[in-house]
Amino acid sequence: MVKKKTCIFISGNGSNLNNLIKNSRDYVFPISVSLVISDNPSAGGIKFARKNSIPFILINTKTRSYENKILQNLRKYKISIICLAGFMKILSKKFLSNFRYKVLNIHPSLLPKFKGLNTYYRIIKNKEKKTGCTVHLVNEKLDGGKIIVQKSFFISENDDEKKLKFKTQRLEYAAYPEAIIKLLRYTNS
Ligand code: GAR
Repeated sequence: MVKKKTCIFISGNGSNLNNLIKNSRDYVFPISVSLVISDNPSAGGIKFARKNSIPFILINTKTRSYENKILQNLRKYKISIICLAGFMKILSKKFLSNFRYKVLNIHPSLLPKFKGLNTYYRIIKNKEKKTGCTVHLVNEKLDGGKIIVQKSFFISENDDEKKLKFKTQRLEYAAYPEAIIKLLRYTNS
């Protein structure tokens, strides 16, 4: 099977990155993790790139041309799929036009509910009964774009932010690989 070369964008712990690396070792999983990009030099996730000898690039998003630098590297590594995994920057319409239907993001809520930051805090404050995670195509709007996979669970009375995060991320580790398979099946490329 010819695997699609994929770049994972991170800003933090990288547990989704680690999960996608593990999945990509399976012969029938359709992507290989070929590049990691981080906008945060102290992102914990960088260790997973190092450990697995995957090239990684640090991007300074304070410079105006950072998207060009990203693009150059994506071309250099022949990347055809991008997975945002805890990457906390919004990519421009111009940048995204280079990767139509090829950029996915994961968000810890049942979108379109609770876009943006402090998701778990707001879910608890709003006394939601159910929550979960969403993998969606990325457009230039915050946590916007067509939903590919959504997984949910019922919130227990004693769930605090920490427990919600734990339960949500467990679902994320199933949702992201499923969404990648689904996307590649539908776009047939
Ligand atoms: C994930 O839970 C993801 O849903 C969230 O960041 C976490 C990254 O964790 N993304 C967003 O909030 C995007 N709006 P990780 O670094 O351990 O994979």
